[in-house]
Amino acid sequence: MLRPQAKTIDLDGKPDLKNPDLYMDGGFHEVFSRLRADEPVYWNPEADASGFWAITRYDDIEAMSKNPALFSSARHLGGHRIFDEHTLENNSTDASMISMDPPGHTGYRRMVTPGFVPKRISGMEDRIRARVTRILDAMEAKGKADGGVEFVSTVAAVLPIEVLAELFGVPEADGPKLFEWSNATVGEDDPELRVSDEYMRQCVSEMAGYAAGLWQQRQENPGDDLITMLAHSKIDGKEMSFATYIGTFILLVVAGNETTRNSISGGLLALTEFPEQRQRLLDDPSLIPSAVQEIVRWVSPVLHMRRTATADTEIRGQKITKGDKLVMWYASANRDGDKWADPFAFDVGRYTNRQAPTHLGFGAGQHFCLGSRLAELQLKILYEEMLSRFPDIRVTGPARRLRSNFISGIKDMPVSF
Ligand code: HEM
Repeated sequence: MLRPQAKTIDLDGKPDLKNPDLYMDGGFHEVFSRLRADEPVYWNPEADASGFWAITRYDDIEAMSKNPALFSSARHLGGHRIFDEHTLENNSTDASMISMDPPGHTGYRRMVTPGFVPKRISGMEDRIRARVTRILDAMEAKGKADGGVEFVSTVAAVLPIEVLAELFGVPEADGPKLFEWSNATVGEDDPELRVSDEYMRQCVSEMAGYAAGLWQQRQENPGDDLITMLAHSKIDGKEMSFATYIGTFILLVVAGNETTRNSISGGLLALTEFPEQRQRLLDDPSLIPSAVQEIVRWVSPVLHMRRTATADTEIRGQKITKGDKLVMWYASANRDGDKWADPFAFDVGRYTNRQAPTHLGFGAGQHFCLGSRLAELQLKILYEEMLSRFPDIRVTGPARRLRSNFISGIKDMPVSF
């Protein structure tokens, strides 16, 4: 499952949304604002593939997400990323629910849903709080010794990995491996992460080998974890295929990890840039759940998902032909002025207003993020504990960004407190 690197194209002054360099700073928001106003259904040619329609308005993205019969995620049509199916090398491990449509998707999603039901997630609260306390203790000790810390590796990456290890029922000591594999899976366009094609292949093969070992263990010794759910599940009386199991494992590692990590870091960056919003949270911590939603809207850790048209159709009068590729830019929808009052204001109280629209950071429709409650719980507990212990924690230097058109990520960022 080696991802190709994004080939860029000169579009004569028009934006190439596939170019990962566009997302290295906040400048892409200006590009999206122009497209929403002038060309909300924008044709983006590609150097090495068919081109795609870039969809940038909230209402269009929401409607598409809720119409999988017309806008498919199916892997055989191209799946959920910009790449064309035929450009994926050895994609047999790529099958998972995120690249399926209903009705097939429903059964696969149902298999892991018990791992994410509200009762189970809220039952994790005390353990997450204990983890957060330990992580912040370590941050404090390191900060005292060094006068500050690198926030991503000390805090933001650690919590989601530990929580994932708990969901999988694997030792915390395996966390660093999960972290490395997950980075490699989304790092195809970042020269620091794509050390070599060989290294990327090795990461995928190690991750698949690790997942296979777990499958075997849980066949013999079932537990109360997600891997056991997958290893013992049946769809229409049949066991899940091994390729789908591996695909699902990789999906969970990446989805549960990169996104939450980047919300944690991106949230702190926003609170540093908007000190008056931090003060509001310090004065009234009951705003934190609203702030968590605002952080996910603001950061939009998943920049886009892709769909393929299954029939000729139209969006805003623009003809779309069967087989066309469409890319839904959540990062744009979440700043759409037709939807949000003052979309470029970071407002921690935004979601105390029940009329506030739901952000699209977790997607919408059939594929709405399965881990959204878990991610929100981690963010809520982390921000509660962190702001009460270190009210002045702030970013003190540049946040180095992941080079990616898929994940809005921060690789490292210095903080002091
Ligand atoms: C802030 C954190 C997160 C963000 C922003 C996020 C974002 C998303 C988005 C946008 C989708 C929709 C994909 C589509 O429509 O094609 C999605 C799906 C998914 N997410 Fe998340 N996610 C987060 C955290 C998590 C966590 C913690 C987990 C699990 C541990 C998780 C597991 C999944 C899964 C399994 C799917 C696929 C669901 C399906 O295909 O039915 N996510 N996520």
